Amino acid sequence: MVHLIGALTLLPLGLLIVAADPIHVPLRRRSIHKLDLNEVARRVKVRYGFEDPAVSKGRRASTVSVPVTNQDGDASFFATMTVGTPPQTLGVILDTGSADLWFAGTSCLQDCQEVQLFESAKSSSFQGGNTNGVGSEVVIQYGSGAVRGALSQDTVSMGGFTVSNQKFLTVDAINGVILDSDPLGPSGLMGLAFAALAKTQATPFWEALVNSNQFSSPEMAFWLARSNNLQVQDVPGGAFTLGGTNSSLFTGDIEFINMPTGTPLFWTLTLSSVTINGKTVPISSDTTSAAIDTGTSLIAGPTADVTAIWATVPGSGPSPSGQGFFNFPCKTSVEVSISFGGKSWPISTTDIIAGQEPGESSLCIGAIFAVDVPANTANPSWIFGDTFLKNVYSVFRATPPSVGFAQLSSLAGGTGTGPASTSGSSAPIPTVFSTFNPSTFTGLPTISSPSSTGVANPGTSGTTSDNPVASGAIRVVQIPTTLSGALLTGLVFVLMLAL
Ligand SMILES: *[C@@H]1O[C@H](CO)[C@@H](O)[C@H](O)[C@H]1NC(C)=O
Repeated sequence: MVHLIGALTLLPLGLLIVAADPIHVPLRRRSIHKLDLNEVARRVKVRYGFEDPAVSKGRRASTVSVPVTNQDGDASFFATMTVGTPPQTLGVILDTGSADLWFAGTSCLQDCQEVQLFESAKSSSFQGGNTNGVGSEVVIQYGSGAVRGALSQDTVSMGGFTVSNQKFLTVDAINGVILDSDPLGPSGLMGLAFAALAKTQATPFWEALVNSNQFSSPEMAFWLARSNNLQVQDVPGGAFTLGGTNSSLFTGDIEFINMPTGTPLFWTLTLSSVTINGKTVPISSDTTSAAIDTGTSLIAGPTADVTAIWATVPGSGPSPSGQGFFNFPCKTSVEVSISFGGKSWPISTTDIIAGQEPGESSLCIGAIFAVDVPANTANPSWIFGDTFLKNVYSVFRATPPSVGFAQLSSLAGGTGTGPASTSGSSAPIPTVFSTFNPSTFTGLPTISSPSSTGVANPGTSGTTSDNPVASGAIRVVQIPTTLSGALLTGLVFVLMLAL
């Protein structure tokens, strides 16, 4: 079986070339923006009387919106949650393209510098070691790197929702830029896809809440707000709603589309059409499976389709910056709309610009790029990341498994025009860093070489069953150049063929 676990996620930018020189992304200072940690802590205290799941079941189901922070100019979106007793507040990247929860722990020495760490020793409710089915080592491979940690269990909460026996990884090694070096940034990641995708085999936090009837309705919803200041590392990034939707953030109906039948792994829909500057580009019928993925920045699709899409734009051509990327004259307005079988959802013309072509200020690099995923029903051919999701209110519904989209309200930055028309946007065009220092790059996860050792290579550690490397061939595709700090935090795109 071909797995693309995480390979689709956390792909902030994918200038993809095999074996090209890696890059260093300049780190930037974070801004002053902070979430209201007091409010988060207050909610946790309120919830702590109800750790017993039996008691939780009796509580009134609810819907809560938590603030989201936009990191690095739309590169990733995170929110805070708490773990342990007393609660430790940590940021987690919100990722609908994976299903595991992890926090960098105090033993994390690599690629977690300056990150606020989970101190398991300070939590009276923490369970680790080799007891109660926890303690085993697990490796998770993402598009932008890998993490390795020990299976753990503790009380975790977000937005006032609590799961008292949540399994997660306490990560001791990260390889690749998944977390930025910053005490105010995320300390981990919360996978919001389905349990069947989880490397930890743990029930994801959101599914545990659905199962215990804590949600008003079995839904999670996102308003992902664009960065309005690329010079500032953390800016308000919208809202993540657990247990329902927030009617102040969208207008009109939510159009739900059922997912394909079968055991759900990713949140997937069937792509029905891509319209570009009024022309509908046919999509190959065998590659219509599309992941809806908050943890990926851009839009990726099969080479044949993506080439056909860009062929409709006069003056476009392959970008020298990266295999699979295209550039086009910046003065050309590229209006793209996406349909998954219902309404056609427009993407703002500025979101279609991933950045400027280095050294060619008149050329812009497109945010739709080509990458070919080996054909397999479990693996989507398309990935619709934040480039698309910033333009809609998105709702992930567990029963029946479906994804819904609605028009953003004016409060959420929507224009008030219907889905059939193109929304304008004042989002700034990312600038391109022309300098990078490969020598400071911490190294690819050398997952294609199981003989490698050490913490530098989490992908080669771990038990056989938990280790994707042990069970299959892996293609490492790395990003050769920096497009923009606004887009890049990840360096590696890994297509992992496990088993
Ligand atoms: C809905 O979202 C807005 C904006 O993020 C927020 O201020 C409000 O509290 C949310 N409403 C609910 C009921 O959570």
